Amino acid sequence: MARHMGEERMNLILLGPPGAGKGTQAKRMSAEWGLIHVSTGDILRDAAKRGTALGLQAKPLMDQGQLVPDAVVNGIIEEWLKGPEARKGFVLDGFPRTLPQAEALSQALVTAKMSLDAVLSFDVPEAVLVDRISGRRSCPACGSVYHVVERPPARDGICDKDGEALIQRADDTPEKVRERNRLYEQKTAPLKAFYAERHLLRPVAGVGTPDGIFADIRRVLGKAA
Ligand code: AP5
Ligand code: MG
Repeated sequence: MARHMGEERMNLILLGPPGAGKGTQAKRMSAEWGLIHVSTGDILRDAAKRGTALGLQAKPLMDQGQLVPDAVVNGIIEEWLKGPEARKGFVLDGFPRTLPQAEALSQALVTAKMSLDAVLSFDVPEAVLVDRISGRRSCPACGSVYHVVERPPARDGICDKDGEALIQRADDTPEKVRERNRLYEQKTAPLKAFYAERHLLRPVAGVGTPDGIFADIRRVLGKAA
């Protein structure tokens, strides 16, 4: 029986440096295909905003562009995978980020009798990353993401959806982006080989318009427009 696009369940990982467009594309994939967007960065920022124990532990590390300990993020994802939402298909954005995280994820998926369909990997030059991140503005209420040049809100500094004042992330200065990118190269880029060995790695265009990149994601996943 033919399946509608929206019913297609895929379990995907987005791999890419800070500012690669993981969040931008994950939101689009969620809207188009009904996949659940799971961003460990968003989960940790939300915890920091609410002042929970998790948030208090994570905030100073995040603000400095450092990684939160593996055990902390592994625990978050392992719990989430046990819940009903995980069965709807998901896009993991920002997890895994280290080899121990990738290994923990593999184990958790075996336990949950689930598997990955693809790992989409974005490569973007550092100068483009710094430019994208310096211009990023986010809504603290609904999480919408803008760019002052590429994707400006209708009214300067104000969210189109709910009228909130937009903010800049504390880790979005050019120096911290370079530090985050350095950590990406050191700790996360080795995951490309990890997933290539498992025949899951699919490089996608990292540079271009968000629409052009989404078209490339469709192509790579074999999903017609
Ligand atoms: P996280 O929130 O995951 O940050 P990140 O990986 O550094 O990635 P970003 O969110 O900065 O970039 P993005 O790829 O989502 O780009 P976006 O779509 O917004 O993690 C933050 C912190 O949390 C970490 O540093 C760490 O401390 C902690 N953490 C999270 N997960 C962890 C883990 N697993 N282990 C340990 N610690 C963890 O796009 C960027 C901008 O560019 C936007 O303004 C957008 O509008 C614009 N844009 C997007 N696409 C394009 C395009 N094609 N052309 C032009 N502009 C574009
Ligand atoms: Mg993001």
